[in-house]
Amino acid sequence: MKITNICCIGAGYVGGPTMAVIAHKCPDIKVTIVDLNAERIAAWNDENTDNLPVYEPGLDQIVLSARGRNLFFSTDVEKAIDEAQMIFISVNTPTKTYGLGKGKAADLKYIELCARQIAAVAKDDKIVVEKSTLPVRTAEAVKNILDSTGNGVKFQILSNPEFLAEGTAVEDLLNPDRVLIGGDTDAEGQAAINALVDVYANWIPKERILTTNVWSSELSKLTANAFLAQRVSSINAMSELCEKTGADVNEVARAIGMDSRIGPKFLKSSVGFGGSCFQKDILNLVYIAKSYGLDEVADYWEQVIIMNDHQKRRFAANIVKTLYNTVSGKKITFLGWAFKKDTNDTRESAAIYVADDLLHEQANIAVFDPKVEETTIFRDLDYLATRKPEENKAGVTVYQDPYEACRGTHAIAVLTEWDEFKGYDWQKIYDNMKKPAFVFDGRNVLNGKELKEIGFIFTGVGKAY
Ligand code: UDX
Ligand code: UDX
Ligand code: ADP
Repeated sequence: MKITNICCIGAGYVGGPTMAVIAHKCPDIKVTIVDLNAERIAAWNDENTDNLPVYEPGLDQIVLSARGRNLFFSTDVEKAIDEAQMIFISVNTPTKTYGLGKGKAADLKYIELCARQIAAVAKDDKIVVEKSTLPVRTAEAVKNILDSTGNGVKFQILSNPEFLAEGTAVEDLLNPDRVLIGGDTDAEGQAAINALVDVYANWIPKERILTTNVWSSELSKLTANAFLAQRVSSINAMSELCEKTGADVNEVARAIGMDSRIGPKFLKSSVGFGGSCFQKDILNLVYIAKSYGLDEVADYWEQVIIMNDHQKRRFAANIVKTLYNTVSGKKITFLGWAFKKDTNDTRESAAIYVADDLLHEQANIAVFDPKVEETTIFRDLDYLATRKPEENKAGVTVYQDPYEACRGTHAIAVLTEWDEFKGYDWQKIYDNMKKPAFVFDGRNVLNGKELKEIGFIFTGVGKAY
């Protein structure tokens, strides 16, 4: 089957960029992205691409190239489902906040709602593609719901996990290491797989398109994220030991990274990993392992999260300790709130947890992030529900200018590795700060030697200064 009409349910960080790139590369395919959130759809349709709901380098150009030609954003979910031959499900699957599996299992209610909606609307055969990260064997549940209508419509379920990283989404989509497609092993399943392979083959070399069974595909996504997060926790575990022993974690990372069996990537020590995927996927993996009675497997992976929580906690604790054991009433400036540079996404960002700890210590926090909006910062803090929203409002001030954020402050903490932080006039910042002037570089991006020459008391991660 040649695909000419695709619908994607969910216009978020995954659905938006992925479908924009498919539309950009496949002018013969009509791609419609639908979302229940009308505000979000309006933002995707905004004339001014600065207002797109997702910030990704290069995304505006991709959207402009295809929007109105073969790329459409709409709230009419039913119409788009009805017209499409292939439907991607790209809705959010957050960690459950209630009931059984609370805090661990993935909440699949949005996925189930999508499946029910597709079942209700579809009048002809459809290929349904899971794009969201899902627990293993979700495809089975989706298939059961789809097949329950009894109206003779046939569904093929594919798993096509997305490996893009935020901040490099466009580059990752244009030039992925691999594309993974899982489907049924029978002839109809293979035909569905081939239909999707043909879509990607418009710009991706065939040898980089892997096909597997559905379960391998679903599990590979969780495994990839667990391995990546595990590397960060491993280097972060070493960072604490480095600080005690006089080793430098950057030198250690370089030395081990040159071993081709280890490789140099994902060895940057930091204040802790964040993002919508790592923690959620590992918790999910832990939950699945436990549900099969595999306690050792579950404990092994859970340690990655425990280490990451520790890394965030000890960063905050170190600030308090260094500032003479009290930050009460002191202004402390956060440079960066996003979970990594080049994105406006803040989900699970270390900054949120460090801020929460320092607010418990009654600090006055000033935040500057080049891309994150004030409402997002308060939403993140309020979501923790550790204090009243009014108290978060009273304890945190968001600035539009980094120099103002740093004026009169006792300490600066770098929470995100935005490139622009390196180029600031650090002498000017120093001159306007309280003395002694402290910098805690949670990303090891600043030049500690230069800052110390200016007069700062400087601390990074994983090195005794
Ligand atoms: C190891 C290190 O590789 C080497 O750099 C260091 O100097 C000494 O320790 P060695 O113990 O000789 O070398 O062998 P290695 O090839 O690393 O294997 C160690 C064990 O891991 C073996 O039992 C091997 O069978 C096992 N292994 C290795 C696996 O089970 N799976 C793998 O993918 C790789
Ligand atoms: C991740 C996976 O990389 C991607 O393949 C998957 O599709 C989704 O999850 P993402 O969360 O967007 O992508 O960003 P990533 O670059 O993996 O970073 C995750 C977190 O780890 C960030 O907070 C980052 O700052 C941190 N990190 C990453 C480190 O602290 N050190 C590193 O060396 C690498
Ligand atoms: P991700 O990072 O996985 O892309 P996001 O939260 O950024 O997650 O995006 C998911 C999107 O899916 C949201 O914009 C949400 O409104 C949308 N969504 C969730 N459920 C449905 C549904 N049943 N129909 C349409 N859109 C949905």
